[in-house]
Amino acid sequence: MTTVKSIEDFDPKLQKLCRDSIEARNMSYSPYSQFKVGAALQCSDGSVIKGCNVENASYGLAICAERTALVKAVSEGKQDFTCIAISADLKEEFVGPCGACRQFLAEFHPEIPIYLVRLDGKVQVTSLKYLLPDAFTPKKMDFDFHH
Ligand code: THU
Repeated sequence: MTTVKSIEDFDPKLQKLCRDSIEARNMSYSPYSQFKVGAALQCSDGSVIKGCNVENASYGLAICAERTALVKAVSEGKQDFTCIAISADLKEEFVGPCGACRQFLAEFHPEIPIYLVRLDGKVQVTSLKYLLPDAFTPKKMDFDFHH
């Protein structure tokens, strides 16, 4: 279900996506938690949209990196995504998206491949199908807002 690889094992496009997520992480505004997260969303049109977590003095308003990237993409007219890379630093641990971000991803791609990137270059390969099985999606509601 999940495998661990090194960034160098991937094709150049995927390597770049992983590195883009680390670049996005460098933009993190997280003075309260000091926990930087970056995301890089691969769009079907070939573009990559980056996002970082953005915190606030009113702590509960923090926005995760994954949702920043998704909101940026959708507001630029992109709704078709092929995968997402997410970077964080918990040393030997891989950091997966929070529950809210899993649900937000499911809206657009319930099985999206997910690459959890560590700063040492190790990557856990997983997917939303595995991290949020049987998700509540527009399809379940018999809605199709996407096309
Ligand atoms: N955070 C993310 O940006 N993405 C995740 O997947 C987990 C948590 C952020 C939210 C907050 O700014 C900080 O990490 C600590 O929870």
